[in-house]
Amino acid sequence: MEERIAALSHLMVDDPFAQKGSWKELFSEQGELYLELGCGKGKFLTGCALAKGDAGYIGIEGQDSVLLRALEKTEQAQIGNIRFVCVFVKDIRDLFQDRELAGIYLNFSDPWPKARHAKRRLTYGERLVQYKQVLKTDGFIAIKTDNDALFDFTLEEIERKGLEIKEMTRDLHASGYEAKEITTEYEERFREAGKNINYVLL
Ligand SMILES: C[S@@+](CC[C@H](N)C(=O)[O-])C[C@H]1O[C@@H](n2cnc3c(N)ncnc32)[C@H](O)[C@@H]1O
Repeated sequence: MEERIAALSHLMVDDPFAQKGSWKELFSEQGELYLELGCGKGKFLTGCALAKGDAGYIGIEGQDSVLLRALEKTEQAQIGNIRFVCVFVKDIRDLFQDRELAGIYLNFSDPWPKARHAKRRLTYGERLVQYKQVLKTDGFIAIKTDNDALFDFTLEEIERKGLEIKEMTRDLHASGYEAKEITTEYEERFREAGKNINYVLL
């Protein structure tokens, strides 16, 4: 597997912490920058990158075996406007400067169901505030999840931190929201099983 990842290293960022403040330099077009945190096998990000060729997309995924699938998908489709990072993020501000990003996607984040692990959830309130700091003033956080308990927790954390909700539904695919247009691997799996998809946009 290491060899297969090495062969696709041109799609990856070697030292993402050194890239803080200069992510735009990685892309030929100088459009907006978007991040998917926990991008999995890359279905969503490749869909976004194909739909918006002038933007730059960054996919962060902590598991290298999963990231490999995203790298292969990107190479196969000859997509030039995505770069990937293989780290488990603790504080997003270690990687991005204030107002560097136009949008952050959190798709089907790990639920960490035990109460004592609440701080590990990617939608924990303090993390949401950290995301806001690296976003432009009109930047967004878009969150999708099948997990109703994680969604309830997320809404509580949004309220606790006094953040404003722009869009919200507990059944994204029965809604008119544009966020249903580009789906993720997990989203397809849960939709096929008849599960409602929760969605909130900040
Ligand atoms: C349940 S999967 C969802 C994948 C994809 N977003 C989707 O919707 O199909 C969550 C992914 O996030 C990754 N992940 C979780 N916490 C992370 C973190 N702090 N930094 C980077 N990746 C993370 C996991 O390794 C896993 O692959």
